[in-house]
Amino acid sequence: MMADIEIEIDGKVVHGYSGESLISIADREGIDIPRFCYHKKLSVAANCRMCLVDIEGNPTPQPACSTLSSAGMKVHTNNEGQNCTKGCYGVFVNQPPTGLSNL
Ligand code: FES
Repeated sequence: MMADIEIEIDGKVVHGYSGESLISIADREGIDIPRFCYHKKLSVAANCRMCLVDIEGNPTPQPACSTLSSAGMKVHTNNEGQNCTKGCYGVFVNQPPTGLSNL
């Protein structure tokens, strides 16, 4: 089956299927989008927000795992929202709440 739409991710023109998730297209094209809760063989929960991307024309970052593609989308993966999410997880992993080590 041939891809039927064209979108841009970080300025690179890529092809996908209408309604395919952004993270699926990015994976196929070798574009890295960090994720925790997404796995292609599981249902999409979209809980962790690690995969947030900016989409031109959209006022807020969207999760790439649950956002469906449409022709002409322009997506940016290196954005403020994603950097913030990564920073928050970094703090938790590097400085877990006290008392967890006693469990
Ligand atoms: S990977 Fe968790 S919200 Fe997308």
